[in-house]
Amino acid sequence: MRRSTLLALILFAAVVLAACGDPPREAEHRDGETGRWYTVEQVLQGSPVFAEHCAVCHGARAEGAEEWFRRLPDGRWPPPALNGTAHAWHHPLWQLRQHIRDGSDPRHGNMPAFESVLTEAEIDAVIAWFQSHWPNEIYEAWLVYDANTPEP
Ligand code: HEC
Repeated sequence: MRRSTLLALILFAAVVLAACGDPPREAEHRDGETGRWYTVEQVLQGSPVFAEHCAVCHGARAEGAEEWFRRLPDGRWPPPALNGTAHAWHHPLWQLRQHIRDGSDPRHGNMPAFESVLTEAEIDAVIAWFQSHWPNEIYEAWLVYDANTPEP
């Protein structure tokens, strides 16, 4: 077999194999500047969105309510920190988006739905902004969580 034919065969096999594999997950993407799935522009876009729509409950620096880990007298939860010190990293990307679109289950909290308020791009930007506060250990742990919690 000619060398170029062999090369073409190998390339063809590689393309077929790549097409059969799972599509890469969005969260796995590493932006050249941030090393994370989002860009610097998204973080900058998310900052005023957070200040306008989220800070009133989650705090200006996403630090959450003072005792976010203690249930309120009515059995619901106060707004948790989103800065990497609470449990937001236990939610894969699709669930974070969904929570912001749909708001709280009324039995769990009073967060409003943002589906008709924010665009998908703004929701991604606001996630990028609060994740930019996460230390690398939390971010890397979140990536594992994201990989193991596929969208149903
Ligand atoms: C009126 C208050 C209020 C506003 C405004 C609000 N939230 Fe919340 N948020 C809550 C409460 C309370 C919870 C906890 C109960 C729950 O899980 O639904 C919560 C939970 C969350 C969670 C889940 C975190 C976790 O660890 O489970 C995310 C993510 C979130 N909010 C993001 C946002 C973003 C982004 C905005 C702005 C676009 C926003 N919230 C605006 C009250 C609010």
